[in-house]
Amino acid sequence: LHKVLCCCWIRHHYGNLSTEHLSLLDQMGGDITKQIAPFEDKVRFLNETIYQIKKLFDGNMKAVTWDKKNLDYFLNILEHQFENLNSCQGSPNLFMENYRRLKQYFKKLNRKVLRKMNYSAQAWELIRKGTQCHLQRLGILAGQMY
Ligand SMILES: *[C@@H]1O[C@H](CO)[C@@H](O)[C@H](O)[C@H]1NC(C)=O
Ligand SMILES: *[C@@H]1O[C@H](CO)[C@@H](O)[C@H](O)[C@H]1NC(C)=O
Ligand SMILES: *[C@@H]1O[C@H](CO)[C@@H](O)[C@H](O)[C@H]1NC(C)=O
Repeated sequence: LHKVLCCCWIRHHYGNLSTEHLSLLDQMGGDITKQIAPFEDKVRFLNETIYQIKKLFDGNMKAVTWDKKNLDYFLNILEHQFENLNSCQGSPNLFMENYRRLKQYFKKLNRKVLRKMNYSAQAWELIRKGTQCHLQRLGILAGQMY
């Protein structure tokens, strides 16, 4: 459902991107938040995802034409969220399998979208949309915690 809601437009909008990119984007609709039960696991998962997103947005952004103020604001919020999550008690040994997939996923995003597309404005736009999907999904996960 969330895939349809927030990721489906990419297929139309960027209809002629390579299948690789599309399948990669499809994975954003995947189930990496599945099977996360205990509260501490969720904290850790949120924390790690925010951390990975932060890292992703550390890349070369020269080509980006987004509103600078909004971008800074967004990055500040990420930083703030990360600090807050870090002060929570996270699970020390998060379901390693999910964690590994999460890291691999962001690594792929970095390598196959940002680097491969040379940190172009277009690449960043894909990252922006994908991140939006992720944050929405994190919001749902967080909403289930209380
Ligand atoms: C899609 O294809 C059109 C025409 O072939 C091209 O002008 C455009 O830049 C392409 N868009 C993307 C996102 O590759
Ligand atoms: C949050 O993520 C960072 C980076 O991976 C890690 O060093 C830290 O221990 C994590 N904190 C929690 C509460 O999971
Ligand atoms: C990648 O971008 C850099 C600067 O942003 C440019 O100098 C270089 O020619 C580009 N490479 C390709 C393959 O587009």
